[in-house]
Amino acid sequence: MMVIAIVAVVAIASAAFVLAGNGGDRPTPVPDTPADSDVSTAVVYFSETENTKAVAEKIAQAAGGDLIRITPAIEYTSGDLDYGNRDCRSNAEDRDDSARPGIANSMDLSGYDRIFLGYPIWYGDSPKIMWTFVETYDLSGKTVIPFCTSGSSGIGSSATHLKDLTHQGTWLDGKRFSGSASYEDVRSWVAGMGMEASA
Ligand SMILES: Cc1cc2nc3c(=O)[nH]c(=O)nc-3n(C[C@H](O)[C@H](O)[C@H](O)COP(=O)(O)O)c2cc1C
Repeated sequence: MMVIAIVAVVAIASAAFVLAGNGGDRPTPVPDTPADSDVSTAVVYFSETENTKAVAEKIAQAAGGDLIRITPAIEYTSGDLDYGNRDCRSNAEDRDDSARPGIANSMDLSGYDRIFLGYPIWYGDSPKIMWTFVETYDLSGKTVIPFCTSGSSGIGSSATHLKDLTHQGTWLDGKRFSGSASYEDVRSWVAGMGMEASA
């Protein structure tokens, strides 16, 4: 009996609402869609002279993601990065495809659906620490969007090399930026992929 009474009250209230109109000119509510805000984004990057960091920050702002720096277990000195010197650390790592420089920080990426993955181009490729990263972290089920900065080189096959080392995740085409890329450059790239936070 109580149930019938409740149903009757709800039906009468609904009819009255319809007859009265839906609040005049109030916009019709848009049904929930799987909005971008439902996607959890991280911008994971390695950067030694802060160019990639600057682009990573812009991506994080445009896409609404968390910034996570890949920190080397042994930081690179300026001598290590003296790429004209064949004996410097970065050059030696570049020549050694088994080199896997350690990562100091432990990252919990389990909650992220989408990973922007950034690095500087070193010797036409990604630094070997990025190889360590993709071999260490489980990217299964995630969308990976590579990006890089460089003096002039394109992204080349650097992102494909990383993808081939892991075979996990869905990798989108990567993008190279100059270290001085503007926020608008970065935002329009993010928006073009339908990943802008406010879209
Ligand atoms: C060891 C080393 C190797 C580099 N090799 C290249 C290269 O092959 N092509 C290029 O255009 N720039 C090269 N660069 C320049 C960097 O890619 C560029 O300055 C980048 O924006 C640095 O990013 P970061 O500031 O995030 O470390 C190299 C820089 C270093 C330190």
